[in-house]
Amino acid sequence: MRDEYSVFCSEIYRITGINLALYKDQQMKRRLNTFMHKLRVESYDQLAKKIEKDQTALKMFHEFVTINVTDFFRDNEQFETLRKRILPQLVKSGSPFRAWSAGCSDGREAYSLLMMLEEMGVTDYQIHGTDLDERILEKARQGIYNEEAVHKVPAHLLAKYFTKLPDGNYQFAPEKARKVQFYKQDLLADEYRKGFDLIVCRNVVIYFTEEAKDFVFAKMAKSLKPDGILFVGGTESILAPKALGLTPVLPFFYKRDDSM
Ligand SMILES: C[S@@+](CC[C@H](N)C(=O)[O-])C[C@H]1O[C@@H](n2cnc3c(N)ncnc32)[C@H](O)[C@@H]1O
Repeated sequence: MRDEYSVFCSEIYRITGINLALYKDQQMKRRLNTFMHKLRVESYDQLAKKIEKDQTALKMFHEFVTINVTDFFRDNEQFETLRKRILPQLVKSGSPFRAWSAGCSDGREAYSLLMMLEEMGVTDYQIHGTDLDERILEKARQGIYNEEAVHKVPAHLLAKYFTKLPDGNYQFAPEKARKVQFYKQDLLADEYRKGFDLIVCRNVVIYFTEEAKDFVFAKMAKSLKPDGILFVGGTESILAPKALGLTPVLPFFYKRDDSM
């Protein structure tokens, strides 16, 4: 006889394609209790039914699950576009390259950028990594990842930039990691720094209202250097970029546009 939680996991997989079995049981159950309370349902069975029937509950569930989810070179194809088509034009000799990973979670996005720049031979750069969540920033500063977290890092980069620790985890090279400045910032409330060549803001605004998204992207446009680029997530697009001071250059890439 399967327990209620594993039946729930199968149902959720059927309805959403999300495999909850890949998430830590205890932690997920604790979070689900809070989530169920918020949705005013009393059992896993009721929750699965609500998610299946109610689009808002389904959206909330997606948000609930993906909140801190990140990866190295997340959406590899788009990182390849960044490497091959965007960065070569963006990296200019003579001035330090400045990049910002906004909503950086545990730092994988910022360290992916770092490895990409290093591999292109760029040495004069600074990367900022910001997030609302101080606990996740502490993880980012430590730069220690488990085996599963590094599975997307190509073997040659893993060998070059990480050290395998005695406990089986991987530490990102501290002398390189120092080039990333991690600090707390609320994109909806705090000031933005300026003068960035590249802003990477991916899978963060999906939780925001349309007005809040526009507010964030318009502020980011002003934080870019005149030819700077904003790189957004694989499921995100900006509906009216011009009004926010941006022009699309390629899918998921926008350039600062001062013509308005
Ligand atoms: C799903 S993760 C995305 C991580 C990374 N950008 C990626 O695409 O892999 C979203 C991150 O945005 C952060 N976040 C959510 N609201 C935020 C806000 N108002 N200001 C700054 N960061 C925020 C969360 O703490 C979380 O770490």
